[in-house]
Amino acid sequence: MVKIQTFAVESWMDKYENDCKYNIAETCCASISIDQLQELSEDKDRTALNTSKALTYGAIRGSDALRSNLARLYSAKGTPLPQDNILTTTGAIQANYLVAYALVNPGDHVICHYPTYQSLYEVPKQLGASVDLWHAKPEDNWMPSIDDLKSLIKPTTTLLIINNPNNPTGAILKRPLLQQIIDIAAEHNITILSDEVYRPIFHSINPLDSGFPPSLVSMGYPKAIVTGSMSKAYSLAGIRVGWIACRDSTIIEKIAEARHYTMISVSQLDEQVAAYALHQNTVHGLLARNIQLAKANLALLERFVLKNDDACEWVKPLAGTTAFVKFHRDGKAVDSVDFCKQLLEKTGVLFVPGSECFGEEFKGYVRIGFVNHTEKIKEGLDAATKFVRRELDDVKLAE
Ligand SMILES: Cc1ncc(COP(=O)(O)O)c(C=O)c1O
Repeated sequence: MVKIQTFAVESWMDKYENDCKYNIAETCCASISIDQLQELSEDKDRTALNTSKALTYGAIRGSDALRSNLARLYSAKGTPLPQDNILTTTGAIQANYLVAYALVNPGDHVICHYPTYQSLYEVPKQLGASVDLWHAKPEDNWMPSIDDLKSLIKPTTTLLIINNPNNPTGAILKRPLLQQIIDIAAEHNITILSDEVYRPIFHSINPLDSGFPPSLVSMGYPKAIVTGSMSKAYSLAGIRVGWIACRDSTIIEKIAEARHYTMISVSQLDEQVAAYALHQNTVHGLLARNIQLAKANLALLERFVLKNDDACEWVKPLAGTTAFVKFHRDGKAVDSVDFCKQLLEKTGVLFVPGSECFGEEFKGYVRIGFVNHTEKIKEGLDAATKFVRRELDDVKLAE
């Protein structure tokens, strides 16, 4: 068995998120209750939960109600996606795990977009693959280069993993780049997994922009697998519902076989709430609330970055719920762990240290999750400004 590395970001959140005063590390759009979800619906007479239904395992691959709503959303702009091409899972974390568990063999070579959520590159390693990271750099607005991708491909490359929109940078791989990625993958018969949990929180790019990225499953490449979730864009992390979609039924069948060994089915209660949230009577209200929240809070974060521009810099995010901000003193990167620990201790504000949770090279970086409740973000960022002004001199510099 390969050594299982600490999942650094999850372990940071586990340690600190329940005791902080201002959670500005959270990646979910401010979470809601079932009552609030029903308030957002246009159909106030229908409830999200049918409590009289017997709690059998339910539909093994996911309820018709949930999968048909997902199929409708994926079919909105292009070739319809049949609901049989979708499997539900316990969150996107399990969706990503299952894709790797079903498709990655020892000796395979996997390429993963970087920086990103650690499980995307750790799990293929645990399964015996060798993994190369496809680096996105701040000087290129976090856009990885196609030439770099070409140079990473080997005869044994079977899977390319991307995260679009990206955690932690909030950058997007735009449509023309996605097309180039597909062309290269097709040439080498490589499957692509696109983790799209932050779709469709596009706060700073217009859907009419020619670069606006479609879901990878809508771009005509059958070997494109996408994963998604109710946690981030839909404010319902507590129901633990995610999914896998792919146009190639052979791939879906292979993943379904692996899925039987890990979960049987998703909780019926959770799927009912997810189906209600994605129903056309509710989904538009829910997304309008969250995209508005992202825009309003991003304006506060932009003001914070401008106010503190002698101590920090960023590439402004275009989508998702996170921004990756670099703090420095006299031109030298701060130690991001010391920065985050002192900030938490002195102000109650929780950020995520980039060098610990996304890779050692991200010295000075912190991940800020800005789509929590506006009042909390505002108060937290004000407290963080005071900290930067008064305490930055006491923070260690990165080595
Ligand atoms: C890129 C990415 N994928 C997957 C997940 C897991 O999300 P879920 O709550 O759907 O399991 C996260 C959570 O932070 C994430 O950032």
